[in-house]
Amino acid sequence: MNILVTGGNGFIGLNFIRIALEKDIRVTCIDNLCYVQDWSFDKQILSDKNFIYFEDDIRNTGLYDFIKKNQFDAIVNFAADTHVDKSIHSDIGFISTNVSGTHNLISICRNLLEEGALSKKFRFIQISTDEVYGSLNASDEPFTESSKLDPSNPYSATKAAADVLCLSYWKTYGFPVIITRCSNNYGPYQYPEKLIPLTISKITSSKKIPIYGDGTQIRDWIYVTDHCHGVLAVLQKGKIGSVYNFGGHCELTNIHCVKRIAKEIKPHDDPSRYVSFVKIRPGHDKRYAINSKKSLNELGWAPSISFDDGLRKTIDWYRENVDWIDKQLNSKSYIEWTEKHY
Ligand code: TYD
Repeated sequence: MNILVTGGNGFIGLNFIRIALEKDIRVTCIDNLCYVQDWSFDKQILSDKNFIYFEDDIRNTGLYDFIKKNQFDAIVNFAADTHVDKSIHSDIGFISTNVSGTHNLISICRNLLEEGALSKKFRFIQISTDEVYGSLNASDEPFTESSKLDPSNPYSATKAAADVLCLSYWKTYGFPVIITRCSNNYGPYQYPEKLIPLTISKITSSKKIPIYGDGTQIRDWIYVTDHCHGVLAVLQKGKIGSVYNFGGHCELTNIHCVKRIAKEIKPHDDPSRYVSFVKIRPGHDKRYAINSKKSLNELGWAPSISFDDGLRKTIDWYRENVDWIDKQLNSKSYIEWTEKHY
């Protein structure tokens, strides 16, 4: 199989590429390096004969020739602006990348399919998020694939818009798209603006974590490789025109999650000393929880890594990759972001 992975230098894309290469899939990666300014691939990925990468942007209409020439069997679209808090400060880039960028890719692929310039077996996998469903109350049933789309912030609204656009291409043109919606990921290479890597870096340097509101918001955490195996299963067995949910079956309040990490990194300290409560963010979803029975029934997929194991692997990775995390923490864009936001 010969695939194009967009946003492959980002957190989930990069973890996916490693797993895809292990399965002997030929991977071409494009990324616009807007988040992490250097390529993050390690020697193992870079030396793989099935791997190649280019700096490019999913909004580039010139990708038409590139996709035609490379005859991909599938495109997996991870490229997106993903940070809710940033979308609240400024949403224009989110609309441009998440909506217009996805539109550029699907319209190029649709044209190529209509011209017979791509294989009839071609698939477009759109990586979405459970955040398109909005928020649950404590007693609500977890979201299924047919739950109403009800996004609460500009980020999730752009992802919902892209999902609806992709599905309209399936309904109108028979465009072979499949959408995946996953709960909150954590693991190696996650940028420190997100809760778990932020918490690891703060506690490691004995600083406090700014918890929004009272910290009782609930997220359903999934170790990133479990998500990546789900995407791979979709690539191999997913039904076109379908949506698949992936959840970690691990609902934790933010405060519990932070204290659990503190216990792991500084077992002799009172975890409360690492917590500071700050103003709640606007449109802050109370609870996410995902029903992934459809993925189990149709793809044979279920998460396999417990939060305890995943957290240990993640902490170990951040300990062993101090250079990578320091580079992100000291980057101009990260410093500007933290000064503006906190
Ligand atoms: P995050 O990892 O940013 O993912 P998302 O917003 O997509 O769920 O945040 C997870 C939860 O942690 C979310 O409820 C917001 C909260 N949070 C804080 O309380 N403080 C922080 O500094 C950050 C980054 C997140």
